[in-house]
Amino acid sequence: MSAEVLDRSLVLDAVRVTEIAAIAAWELAGRGDEKAADQAAVDAMRTALNDLDLDGEIVIGEGERDEAPMLYIGEKVGRGGKTKIDIALDPLEGTTLTAKAMANALAVMAWAPKGTMLNAPDTYMDKIACGPGYPKGVIDLDKTPAENVRALAKAKGVQASAITVCVLDRPRHAEIIASLRSVGARVYLITDGDVAGVMNTADPTTGVDFYVGQGGAPEGVLACAALKCVGGQFQGRLVFRNADERARAARIGITDFDKKYDLHEMVRADAIFAATGVTDGALLDGVKFKDGFVHTHTLVMNSATQTVREVRMKRPA
Ligand code: FBP
Repeated sequence: MSAEVLDRSLVLDAVRVTEIAAIAAWELAGRGDEKAADQAAVDAMRTALNDLDLDGEIVIGEGERDEAPMLYIGEKVGRGGKTKIDIALDPLEGTTLTAKAMANALAVMAWAPKGTMLNAPDTYMDKIACGPGYPKGVIDLDKTPAENVRALAKAKGVQASAITVCVLDRPRHAEIIASLRSVGARVYLITDGDVAGVMNTADPTTGVDFYVGQGGAPEGVLACAALKCVGGQFQGRLVFRNADERARAARIGITDFDKKYDLHEMVRADAIFAATGVTDGALLDGVKFKDGFVHTHTLVMNSATQTVREVRMKRPA
């Protein structure tokens, strides 16, 4: 296997892993316990990964070793073998969504050749992303939200009022939202789940033109792996709220704290990305138990071949 391209047969393995995590999380959906839902997904994903013939290392996981007993950054998973990969995962992206049985919770994972994904610390990241088909740099983290609306509208050949921007609904985004609305853009607020928020920009059926705002840095890497498969642009800059967060970043090798990363710096080689719906959402249906069977819906993509597959699984419950 080439060092820079993963074997395409890994695609189905990746699907199995996110399916299992999604089913485990769904069992806890709507029961008001975020931690239990997350733990169920983590346990299931870890067991599934340890059943595979690969030599994997978690680069984006549940946190640092001292705070996350499972799927911590640096943990080795898999039974070993010559397939050496970096793994970014979020067994339950949308713990609150799941606890409240709200839409858009996902089990998410990305694989890339060893040493090719950014080891992002568990801090916030300022992010901006758009889908494919625009000139490079059309949107930029260093422009105001209003300027980005105007630039994208011009590139798309529409009025600013025809642009829809996805933003996490948080008080910290009040200025961003005001700036977007000042030029007439439509703001599509989400309560959680910015991996899906970024992915929406590359799916014309969602109507979302770009994503902007501050969310988790680990989720930024996962979103980049997804966009790498379907095209699009992403910029991210780590946000540090205190010395401890800077120290965390330094421990995992970050030296330039102000760096503006683009998509291909966050995921430097071809990647496989898989996401299974936990609850129903814009991108994927959630897990269903029906007539003695469990059903799942997964999106799996391989950037090396730009292949996008939707996989519907059914098996006896
Ligand atoms: P969890 O699944 O870990 O709860 O993350 C959900 C999420 O909405 C992410 O998608 C997003 O990046 C982050 O939380 C935003 O953080 P915060 O809730 O602190 O604004």
